Amino acid sequence: MFLNGPPRPAVIYFLVDHLMGTTTIIDGKAKAAALSQKITEKAAVLRNNLGIRPGLAVVIVGEDPASKVYVRNKKRTAEACGFHSVKHSLPEESDQPTVLNLISQLNSDPDIHGILVQLPLPSHLNEQLVTQSIAPEKDVDGFHLQNIGMLTAGHLDNAFVPCTPAGCMVMIEEQLGHDLSGLHAVVIGRSNIVGKPMASLLLKANATVTICHSRTKDLPKVAKTADILVAAVGRAEMVGAEWIKPGAIVIDVGINRTQVEIDGEIKNKLVGDVNFEEALGIAGAITPVPGGVGPMTIIMLMSNTLRSAEMTTS
Ligand code: GUN
Repeated sequence: MFLNGPPRPAVIYFLVDHLMGTTTIIDGKAKAAALSQKITEKAAVLRNNLGIRPGLAVVIVGEDPASKVYVRNKKRTAEACGFHSVKHSLPEESDQPTVLNLISQLNSDPDIHGILVQLPLPSHLNEQLVTQSIAPEKDVDGFHLQNIGMLTAGHLDNAFVPCTPAGCMVMIEEQLGHDLSGLHAVVIGRSNIVGKPMASLLLKANATVTICHSRTKDLPKVAKTADILVAAVGRAEMVGAEWIKPGAIVIDVGINRTQVEIDGEIKNKLVGDVNFEEALGIAGAITPVPGGVGPMTIIMLMSNTLRSAEMTTS
């Protein structure tokens, strides 16, 4: 009996090597775990030496199931890092003054160093007003115009950078180093949460940056010119083999819930914006979904909160 099945001809080994061996799968979960350990240690030092415990307040309005999962994970991770962690769950019908009043209390609470209001908010609330009411020095999401301005101007030392692009950048730098001179980065998606801040970070690292979106002409052709391709469109497996330049680093920001049939049963499956199977063997490196960008986003939130707490001492 053959433990691994019958022997295969050499050409098959070659093909398997070619298809499987050339693409590095970037393990966001492992990287996030390593960072979590460092953050936990630093938080303990801050607490033991100065009596400051980093505090994160997460606010959720309504019952959106995906948002509830994200908020639970953020709270759990904060606790695991030894932070003071509070969650405020407001009913769906909460009015604008109620939300603003809570944020005002958190702004002046000395035990809270980071405030995050989970988006999207129910449609009767003004997202812009709410995010801009968070004190910039506690805006660990990096959504306040002051932080956006600092990032856009390249003053990263004074800015809180939005967590998803910050996490993507850590993974890109781990593959390619801190100086991306001469490399072309294509960001698909122009959102304020991911696309625009991602472009600012890549530009700061000297990459040549193109931002694409739904109105871009011949999107696959532009994407294929990228040495670094960041997909943040929110469409399941849209980026296929023909979009990817051989050897490119592919960062998949998408988290799309789909259903697949396995053994006659319909099962839920999370997939990214990139067709992972098609990208294998073409991309030089790729982040998987799940286990890529997601865990890094949460750990960047912890990093921002720790930094906010540390800044109160200077
Ligand atoms: N909803 C989806 N992503 C995010 C995020 O990064 N921050 C907040 N506050 N809400 C989100």
